[in-house]
Amino acid sequence: MGWLKSVDFSGFLVAMLLLFAVFSMGSVSGIGANWGTQTTHSLPAATVVKMLKDNGFQKVKLFDADSTILDSLKNSGMEVMVGIPNDMLYTMANSVQAAENWVAKNVSAHVSSNAVDIRYVAVGNEPFLTTFNGSFEGITLPALQNIQAALIKAGLSSRVKVTVPLNGDVYTSPNNIPSQGDFRADIHDLMLQIVKFLNDNGSPFTVNIYPFISLYDNPSFPVDYAFFNGYSSPIDDNGRIYQDMFTANYDTLVWTLQKYGFGNLSIIVGEIGWPTDGDQNANIQYAQRFNQGFMARYLAGQGTPMRSGPLDAYLFSLIDEDAKSIQPGNFERHWGLFYFDGTPKYQLNFTANSKGLVAASNVQYLARRWCVMSPSASLDNPQLANSVGYACQNADCTSLGYGTSCANLDARGNVSYAFNSYYQIQNQLETACKFPNLSVVTNTDPSMGDCRFRIMINAPAGVANGIASGVESLQQPVGLMLFLFLFICTIL
Ligand SMILES: *[C@@H]1O[C@H](CO)[C@@H](O)[C@H](O)[C@H]1NC(C)=O
Ligand SMILES: *[C@@H]1O[C@H](CO)[C@@H](O)[C@H](O)[C@H]1NC(C)=O
Ligand SMILES: *[C@@H]1O[C@H](CO)[C@@H](O)[C@H](O)[C@H]1NC(C)=O
Ligand SMILES: *[C@@H]1O[C@H](CO)[C@@H](O)[C@H](O)[C@H]1NC(C)=O
Ligand SMILES: *[C@@H]1O[C@H](CO)[C@@H](O)[C@H](O)[C@H]1NC(C)=O
Ligand SMILES: *[C@@H]1O[C@H](CO)[C@@H](O)[C@H](O)[C@H]1NC(C)=O
Repeated sequence: MGWLKSVDFSGFLVAMLLLFAVFSMGSVSGIGANWGTQTTHSLPAATVVKMLKDNGFQKVKLFDADSTILDSLKNSGMEVMVGIPNDMLYTMANSVQAAENWVAKNVSAHVSSNAVDIRYVAVGNEPFLTTFNGSFEGITLPALQNIQAALIKAGLSSRVKVTVPLNGDVYTSPNNIPSQGDFRADIHDLMLQIVKFLNDNGSPFTVNIYPFISLYDNPSFPVDYAFFNGYSSPIDDNGRIYQDMFTANYDTLVWTLQKYGFGNLSIIVGEIGWPTDGDQNANIQYAQRFNQGFMARYLAGQGTPMRSGPLDAYLFSLIDEDAKSIQPGNFERHWGLFYFDGTPKYQLNFTANSKGLVAASNVQYLARRWCVMSPSASLDNPQLANSVGYACQNADCTSLGYGTSCANLDARGNVSYAFNSYYQIQNQLETACKFPNLSVVTNTDPSMGDCRFRIMINAPAGVANGIASGVESLQQPVGLMLFLFLFICTIL
């Protein structure tokens, strides 16, 4: 890798001193959290809002504009970013009326009494990812323009800004040298138009930066460079020293904007975080190291070599989402600082005096019982592969497999995990533990070490209805099918 240059630097010592300085300085206001809702069972919105407040979050970023959630944010003091999903971009781009309706229903109605402090509308979510094959390239800017026009018409354009959360892959740099940054070639001109539009309207550039994905995609990516504790071969960009990917990536954006005369455009880090399961590099230790390192940076309020001053950022993510597409990888369902039930996964200090993360309160669970492989069933049972396949396809088996939290289960443990996941997602329905001659309900917690056999939460009616109407609505992308195939092969 060209960017692995050897430059001598006693990075670790410096990082430790910095970290010490950081925690002696006290807090800077305003860290945000992403609140995603692609779950089979959700905590009540009011519980999540209380969690946000208890944990000192001051801003929340949503991926749509769910009215139950927005209502729960009334008078919460929380700044809110609402979102327009990619599948609505076409409508927003092609109909001024649709954009006006969206703003009326999903922004004006909620801010009119000053009750919900909506500050941003995120138009689309990472629409220029290469996996979308350019599907959203022609419609993202027109959608931005129509929403902006609708905000102006509604008299809200000075308090509510439009933006478009983009992945850090919309710009690149040869050898990862920030000062050589530029927009990605295939969307170069489009990006210039979008940046000009944002600048003209006083809107921020929103970027999601993921060192974890760099590590996931590239086995030779240096692990230490993904974190904030110093790196033995930092990048030296004309005297500016970069010891971590986040900072170098952020400054690549600053340089790119500057190159085209938009050096003053404000930048929001829309998503930053590290997953805890579903991959060999997705674990509690790494997630804590990354997020604590990022928080130290954040609290220091010093910005990056190219842009001083506090960072504006939303951690990804608040709570695990067990119905997310795992096409990008099994880790997708494990980005939360908290598990699905609002339990913190690890300690994380947001301020110098922090007592760590605060769990959700008054969480209601289903009964303490689990569905497992029957002790009398045989691994040679011809129904086994189909049953496990069915369970995994309709539930969540992303904690199974190499490098995951349940990697140490034996073959029977694997089967039990799959059965239990299905049983819990089906609200412990009796019929959901009736795999022919294979399964049995138990009152003994089968959890082992880090491998948690969950008990589902008692979800609000609306969400549970979604389940009752058919788990087929869970996404079954190629990644899952491949996973199932491997799983079944292993079992057989
Ligand atoms: C408001 O947002 C919700 C949730 O994203 C969406 O389903 C609905 O269609 C939007 N309303 C309008 C009028 O566009
Ligand atoms: C993008 O193209 C690939 C290959 O042609 C296809 O498999 C995939 O489904 C496409 N994705 C989208 C979002 O259109
Ligand atoms: C950036 O902001 C500074 C200070 O507000 C101003 O002097 C400068 O002209 C601005 N630059 C651009 C390119 O807008
Ligand atoms: C967080 O703070 C507590 C004390 O407030 C401390 O014991 C703990 O080590 C800190 N954790 C990290 C990861 O810095
Ligand atoms: C379950 O086991 C019983 C007794 O061994 C057998 O008669 C029955 O056919 C089995 N059922 C299925 C669905 O395999
Ligand atoms: C359990 O399942 C996972 C995922 O398919 C597989 O990688 C692992 O080897 C299995 N373990 C055993 C002991 O079968």
